[in-house]
Amino acid sequence: MKRLDPHLLTPVAPVDLPTAPMPLDLPDSRPIPHHSRASPRPEAVASSRLTLHRVANPADPVFRDLCLLLCSDPAYWAQTRTMTMDARAAHDMLGNLPADASPERKYLWALRLDGKLVGCLDVLRQWPTRSTLSIGLLMVAPNLRGQGIGHAALEQLRLRTRAWSDVRRWRVAVVESQAGARRFWRGKAFSETGQSRTDAAHSAPLVVMERAA
Ligand SMILES: CC(C)(COP(=O)(O)OP(=O)(O)OC[C@H]1O[C@@H](n2cnc3c(N)ncnc32)[C@H](O)[C@@H]1OP(=O)(O)O)[C@@H](O)C(=O)NCCC(=O)NCCS
Repeated sequence: MKRLDPHLLTPVAPVDLPTAPMPLDLPDSRPIPHHSRASPRPEAVASSRLTLHRVANPADPVFRDLCLLLCSDPAYWAQTRTMTMDARAAHDMLGNLPADASPERKYLWALRLDGKLVGCLDVLRQWPTRSTLSIGLLMVAPNLRGQGIGHAALEQLRLRTRAWSDVRRWRVAVVESQAGARRFWRGKAFSETGQSRTDAAHSAPLVVMERAA
């Protein structure tokens, strides 16, 4: 894995980046326990309320906010990673690229709901193959899950990438032990490809799931 060099990054249109750090909307939002949800959910967030803001430079204050967001769910990292998630680890994770991927193919987005940071979506275009969009991480702030934000993020991703005619399939690698996350991806039309891999960073095998773009 290599670290993103800020000087190599694709410039982002100014309109896409906020000038001040986004508030992390954690304290005053009521979590909806997963076990109490039923479909359809009238309280689900409308996809149109969620916006994606690309963060292409680790020096951007929003990049730091995304690091804080990652650190706000230590339980998830304890279940899936072999090392502790702290600010440095979050910075490395969000800035890293696979050795064979080029920086302009990386799309790190802050998810904003009504202007507030609620999640993170990290995507690689044309990786590992030219026709694949790989989702490296989708994370919603822990106390805001179960309200349709993850669903809305994928809907916004579809809209953002519909002109990417090179992309034929979406791919995600999910830690095998994360039954809830696998259920989420299955609910979004992903299915297991039969491929899995292990690496030193994860505490369990990664199961590869894909769907048509
Ligand atoms: C997976 C994740 C992004 C989903 O975001 P979200 O905003 O809660 O998703 P939505 O509200 O749109 O959809 C929730 C659905 O996901 C499933 N789900 C996700 N996590 C679940 C859990 N822990 N337990 C039960 N179901 C879960 C449910 O099937 C639910 O389905 P429903 O809509 O029929 O109720 C979020 O739970 C998260 O950030 N998890 C930690 C990081 C992670 O696992 N990321 C995915 C791997 S990259």
